[in-house]
Amino acid sequence: MTPRQQELVRTSFSLVLSQEERITELLYQELFRLEPSTKALFRGDINEQRKKLMRMLQIAVENLGDKATLQTMLFNLGMIHQSYGVEEHHFVSFGKSLNFALKSVLKDAFTPEVEASWIAAYHYFAVTMKNFPHGTDAVQVPHN
Ligand code: HEM
Repeated sequence: MTPRQQELVRTSFSLVLSQEERITELLYQELFRLEPSTKALFRGDINEQRKKLMRMLQIAVENLGDKATLQTMLFNLGMIHQSYGVEEHHFVSFGKSLNFALKSVLKDAFTPEVEASWIAAYHYFAVTMKNFPHGTDAVQVPHN
């Protein structure tokens, strides 16, 4: 990501937060439409999950400039996701769903440049989550 893209993701995030309910609703709706099999992986309360996703995105966006902190966090998150049964290809439909939700809700504010910046940010998050050091002791997280 370029510094300009980081800045655009950061500055557009306040708008995302102000519309987080609608965005996360659309995101999961679209994910389950594109990849119906993922629905069964969500065993907890989906409304709580929507909040957890947004809080994590917020922390990730705030730490875009601190790659070391971000990497540790995303490696952990990636390990947890593997234990939830999330597969690598799911990240593609999740990314498309996030993009769809942002575009639908932010409308004109989601300019091509802002869109490209979000795609780059999501790509970075997803690649880092998928590339956690495999073979080390995985963190154990209780399922709901
Ligand atoms: C940048 C991408 C993503 C972020 C930031 C993210 C964030 C999170 C967070 C914060 C949690 C809660 C973890 C906890 O309970 O401590 C979570 C849980 C989960 N995520 Fe993700 N996630 C991402 C991508 C994905 C993808 C691609 C899938 C695939 C379907 C997925 C499926 C799940 C599932 C199944 C759970 C467990 C939900 C439950 O317990 O009901 N996530 N995610």
